[in-house]
Amino acid sequence: MKIPVGVLGATGAVGQRFVQLLEGHPWFEITDVAASDRSAGKPYREACTWRLASAPPAAVAGLTVKTVEGPFAAKLLFSGLDSSVAGEVETALARKGHAVVSNSRNHRMDADVPLLIPEINPEHLAAVELQRKKTGGGYIVTNPNCSVIGLAMVLAPLHKAIGLESVAVVTLQALSGAGYPGVASLDVADNVMPFIGGGEEEKIEAEPLKILGGFEAGAFIPASLRVSASVHRVAVSDGHTMAAFLRFKKKTSTDEARRLLADFRGEPQARKLPFAPERPIHVLDECDRPQPRLDRDRERGMAVSVGRVREDGPFGLKLEALVHNTIRGAAGTAILNGELLKERGLLP
Ligand SMILES: NC(=O)c1ccc[n+]([C@@H]2O[C@H](COP(=O)([O-])OP(=O)(O)OC[C@H]3O[C@@H](n4cnc5c(N)ncnc54)[C@H](OP(=O)(O)O)[C@@H]3O)[C@@H](O)[C@H]2O)c1
Repeated sequence: MKIPVGVLGATGAVGQRFVQLLEGHPWFEITDVAASDRSAGKPYREACTWRLASAPPAAVAGLTVKTVEGPFAAKLLFSGLDSSVAGEVETALARKGHAVVSNSRNHRMDADVPLLIPEINPEHLAAVELQRKKTGGGYIVTNPNCSVIGLAMVLAPLHKAIGLESVAVVTLQALSGAGYPGVASLDVADNVMPFIGGGEEEKIEAEPLKILGGFEAGAFIPASLRVSASVHRVAVSDGHTMAAFLRFKKKTSTDEARRLLADFRGEPQARKLPFAPERPIHVLDECDRPQPRLDRDRERGMAVSVGRVREDGPFGLKLEALVHNTIRGAAGTAILNGELLKERGLLP
């Protein structure tokens, strides 16, 4: 018997990834799909304009789309809801006893909500108990912004072993990060947009501090480093590329940094969770990698690729990183979060 799960915002870019990635999952089975009133009441195959390769799995295509009010058979709900509605909807569902694993920004910085990357901060799951005291059982767990997931994966082993003082990052973000239809083609063809709305830079500057920080005596303690971000939308379908400049608290070498990145493992690897990549970070040797088209699907899109780790005069060290924004950067990490909740006995 598999564990029933629901997908909120199932018709959107992230929702479709959930549906695609959960096909054949060894533990989870989609029993509920929900979206806006525009989609509710229709079979999923009609409500959703499928924009991924192949077709939606037949078992999901035939499900009737519900409104986000439910009721849902599944206790575990993956959310890819638009942020205009995610905040209130996710709170209401947690109060009804659901475990909501969300991609939306609304609750990421809440004082009792884990901002979880299972390889980095699984101890933050202790915050779930604070929510359960209020709800009696349900809770919200969030995963970070899509660029932040790639960035934090790179920063975590370096910060833990050496200590980071400050980070500057320039992102080149894929079109699918804006959902569908996203950016107008006439804005982005033959062009680079040096702005992404919705507080993208602020999220990249704030979220790593919560992720890399601690959870002690019932409160999150932010990590003491500073992050500066400059974001760009580029004409790439999937895969966010980042150039990161790292200033450490003590001297390090490119060899040590490469070794720390390549050796990075966490609880998902120790527990052999179904969605865990064998190696969360792949360090590449080629001088012209990573590239979105060539490297985004590494380990089924769940591994971050790092290249060009090199010394830098003003900062100390610089590198390039690439994350698949709708897999490792969204639905894939959320599924890994769900797997960790199950293994830790935290599912309602
Ligand atoms: N795209 C990415 O790479 C990415 C990465 C990380 C996080 N995120 C976050 O994930 C969330 C979804 O992003 P997306 O790119 O998948 O957006 P999207 O393609 O626009 O999909 C939004 C989903 O929310 C539903 N929705 C919209 N308004 C609603 C309402 N009033 N009530 C109920 N459902 C409603 C839509 O349903 P209908 O089809 O019925 O309108 C659709 O299923 C956002 O919060 C985004 O910031 C996205």
